[in-house]
Amino acid sequence: MPAKKSVQGKKIGVARAKRAGALTPNHQLDDGGVRVWIGDCREKLAALKPELAGKVDLVFADPPFNWNRAYDEWHDKMPREDFVKFTYEWIDACLELLSGRGSFWINIPDDTCAEIVMHMKARKMEMVNWCIWHYRFGQNTTSRFVNSKVHALYFARDAKDRTWNPMEIVEPSDRATTYFDPRTTSKKDGMPPGMRVPLDVWYGAYWGRVQGNNKERRGYHDNQLPEAYLERVILATSNPGDLVLDPFLGSGTTGVMARAYGRRFIGTEFSAANAESAMARIKGGPVHKGMALKKSSAIFEARGAGKATKAKFAQVVAGAASGAESDSD
Ligand SMILES: C[S@@+](CC[C@H](N)C(=O)[O-])C[C@H]1O[C@@H](n2cnc3c(N)ncnc32)[C@H](O)[C@@H]1O
Repeated sequence: MPAKKSVQGKKIGVARAKRAGALTPNHQLDDGGVRVWIGDCREKLAALKPELAGKVDLVFADPPFNWNRAYDEWHDKMPREDFVKFTYEWIDACLELLSGRGSFWINIPDDTCAEIVMHMKARKMEMVNWCIWHYRFGQNTTSRFVNSKVHALYFARDAKDRTWNPMEIVEPSDRATTYFDPRTTSKKDGMPPGMRVPLDVWYGAYWGRVQGNNKERRGYHDNQLPEAYLERVILATSNPGDLVLDPFLGSGTTGVMARAYGRRFIGTEFSAANAESAMARIKGGPVHKGMALKKSSAIFEARGAGKATKAKFAQVVAGAASGAESDSD
């Protein structure tokens, strides 16, 4: 696809951004809880600085990977140097808006992960987790190992003082579902009996790439993240009423889940068609809300226990799951 004559790769000043009229959203919901701007996120976020500096509680960014994807308008094959510069610029634009207790997630594959980690550290961001989103349907290859993951980098301005709601996202522990270890029912870590905070590798039912006849799938988006991923990020690292920003709206997954869980949402998207489609999706709401929550992620068969023990642990987990659910209502 030819490069659109655009601002790609250029440094954009606030004055110019203001002249571009970036402050008026191109799409919004009547209650003001969702606002979307069409254009280059670097430009739009710079123009939003007077209104929103330090006010965004959670940033989630799933940027173009520079893999020559057909992103409607955005030319996804920049010279490497320009792409790295672009990456640093959009990160810095997001950081200008991030609050003191804010969290910043970035979804990024292997080839640009190191640069991003180094840049975030240089900006004094503290890494809380380096999570992996693991999927089973990667692009088949025979000359190297098949790629089956993306990095979900979780940073905070202050790792010791940030929004963190583990109870919203707990899952049954392997000790409870697979090994029937009584210690999990009497542990004193604040988690409900038989439950734990999820591992830092994410996979399972509802966690696959959104492809084929997946009910979440939106038309021509080939890089859509699963709802379960954003559900976990939003529930764990923001509170109802918080302001969530996604600079690369795409099909709108972050906006859909932010809205569904009572957060305010702002997003930017380079493609007018994508922005329109995302807004329609946000209005419609999620397809699988809550379906991936409180599910075991164990990969081995249950072992070494009789029927009665298994039933007892199943009861503990069910009780804990319903307790955790009512906590989150
Ligand atoms: C990887 S996709 C995001 C997918 C999204 N997370 C989802 O679940 O649908 C990246 C999106 O960023 C948009 N984009 C690329 N460069 C942009 C820029 N400079 N500013 C705003 N949006 C941009 C592309 O048009 C594309 O829709």
